Amino acid sequence: MAEMKTVGVVGSGQMGSGIAQLAAVHGLDVWLLDTDPDALIRATKSISTSINRFVSKGLLSQAMGIHAMKHLRCTTNLEELHSADIIIEAIVETEDVKKTLFLKLDKIAKDSAILASNTSSISITRLASATSRPSQVIGMHFMNPPPIMKLVEIIRGADTSDETFYATKALAERFGKTVVCSQDYSGFIINRILMTMINEAFFTLYTGVATKEDIDTGMRLGTNHPMGPLELADFIGLDVCLSIMRVLHAGLGDSKYSPCPLLLQYVDAGRLGRKHGIGVYDYRTAPQTVKP
Ligand code: NAI
Repeated sequence: MAEMKTVGVVGSGQMGSGIAQLAAVHGLDVWLLDTDPDALIRATKSISTSINRFVSKGLLSQAMGIHAMKHLRCTTNLEELHSADIIIEAIVETEDVKKTLFLKLDKIAKDSAILASNTSSISITRLASATSRPSQVIGMHFMNPPPIMKLVEIIRGADTSDETFYATKALAERFGKTVVCSQDYSGFIINRILMTMINEAFFTLYTGVATKEDIDTGMRLGTNHPMGPLELADFIGLDVCLSIMRVLHAGLGDSKYSPCPLLLQYVDAGRLGRKHGIGVYDYRTAPQTVKP
């Protein structure tokens, strides 16, 4: 496959905006799409702020930063993504919503385009089944935040071709990422392990074993994790964590993946984590990250 020139990113939230930034900084033309125009405005601001931070730290030249912003275009019109060599989906973690999008992408994307999903847990094979090109559908799972985290987890669906796999891997490596490859089972590698740990941290809090601060400090200093599991859950988004636990529970059929009632209650209460100002911790006043 020829080198990719244009990337489409669907969903301009935490992940989509970071993926779009990464692609633009690495010299690709980027179309960033969201159904919510306000989300596109927020994404453009956060990309610009992040690029400026890279420039001020000397990690990116000013010229490259300006070049990247020039190569980033925002839209609410799906048709604009027709020129993309690869379209990376980063919308809500709900299978039906993603499938409806893949159906539409299949119609507007050029025949050679790869359709990738940044899903944390949903079956790539089932997303591919919504399209007429299952050999060109693949999981390309970036870590949060995409411009900084070094890993991309690639998931091959049942029909993903070698050509699609190697082209996606080459793109991740062009972004400077290390690639790991997972079979298509719920949660893949990272979230099968990570979310089970986060869910267990919620159970530890729920059953009164320890305070949130002690759980996070214990895991940071006791296991050398940069963030405690509850802080990390707030960073990821509690709604995203709950969706992933539900996929693990349904897909792997073991009660050990049953979401903690406290996680459910926080999501029901709109305590979705940092992005909503409150989750396990309250970020609306002073930041409450745990200090060593
Ligand atoms: P988010 O809630 O920050 O952003 C989602 C965006 O998608 C919103 O701007 C929303 O307006 C837009 N959207 C929803 N439906 C749409 C549609 N049909 N068409 C176009 N845009 C639509 O979500 P976030 O955290 O960026 O997650 C996105 C995906 O990335 C999910 O599949 C999630 O599981 C995955 N992911 C999330 C990580 C995290 O740490 N939050 C890490 C790795 C993957």
